[in-house]
Amino acid sequence: MRIYSRILGTGSYLPANRLTNADLAAQLAQQGVETSDDWIVERTGIRARHFAADQQGSSDLATEAARKALAAAGIGADDLDLIIVATSTPDMVFPSVATMVQHKLGTAGCPAFDVQAVCSGFIYALTIADSMIQSGSAKRALVIGSEVFSRILDFKDRTTCVLFGDGAGAVILEASDQPGILATDLHADGKHKDILCVPGHVNQGGILGDPVLKMDGQAVFKLAVGVLEETARASLAKANLTDADIDWLIPHQANIRIMQSTARKLKMSSDKVVVTVDQHGNTSAASIPLALDTAVRDGRIQRGQTLMLEGVGGGFTWGSVLLRY
Ligand code: ACO
Repeated sequence: MRIYSRILGTGSYLPANRLTNADLAAQLAQQGVETSDDWIVERTGIRARHFAADQQGSSDLATEAARKALAAAGIGADDLDLIIVATSTPDMVFPSVATMVQHKLGTAGCPAFDVQAVCSGFIYALTIADSMIQSGSAKRALVIGSEVFSRILDFKDRTTCVLFGDGAGAVILEASDQPGILATDLHADGKHKDILCVPGHVNQGGILGDPVLKMDGQAVFKLAVGVLEETARASLAKANLTDADIDWLIPHQANIRIMQSTARKLKMSSDKVVVTVDQHGNTSAASIPLALDTAVRDGRIQRGQTLMLEGVGGGFTWGSVLLRY
């Protein structure tokens, strides 16, 4: 009998500091950087984002999201036998955010590690957890996407600093004889590393290279729309389903135009796409679980429905997870 990974509960967390486009534009204007609500909304669909407080790290956001997911699942941290955190903005170079979350949740012993695939990180982490559950090496997994992208933004670069926000989203997966994750699909192509990167790194006690986000927005846009359709179709084919079987598309929340384009290619109406980019901005690895939790909690996503989760991000990396909720 096939073992499936089933979502038992979801949770998310957004830091208290919420900035509308107007708030951000006013702050940027003080540094001589010009932008506007109209430009940001028209090009990206973003209206607001949350920024973490100075003392909050990815592990703090992740722990808050994890607590909500555990409560929704009706289990305790000691019931977990695997913790994976997807992040590109860890609290420290090492140890991992996952081990910090484990400790903050008051548990110990189970394996805990981070996955770094930028905006595809949650899709990668979910796929790894699913594989470990299917192989029998885990029964209950906590999978989190958590980011503090505000720490790696260049607030003098208006082409990038208006796009991102901070947050965390989490799911509890449990082994089940009922579906469950139906299919997964992961890819990467390292030749595109320079179109979206943070080139700086720690070197002998200093930072070598620029430690802020660099992006060729148009190159990212073109690549993203192509691979998001391909990976959705690959997961559907593996599960012997078609685009008509998808109840909800939950794409990485980078830009409303990328999301609408993907929906059109999958012949889905826009009201079947879960959109949170307007309120959260692009929260990288956190964006998909944040969107999932939002639509679960507001009642749009119902048990038994078929969900297509898909992500694309730096690396370049991309992939999808098709699941029965
Ligand atoms: N406010 C006002 N004007 C701006 C801003 C801003 N924040 N940013 C750029 N502009 C100006 C530019 O200077 C340019 O002016 P010019 O014509 O006088 O030179 C003009 O707006 C157009 O700039 P473009 O870069 O050509 O704008 P474009 O339509 O390509 O939109 C954007 C830029 C939104 C970044 C788009 O390329 C995009 O969405 N790309 C996808 C990238 C993405 O979503 N990345 C997220 C991370 S990747 C991921 O998560 C997968």
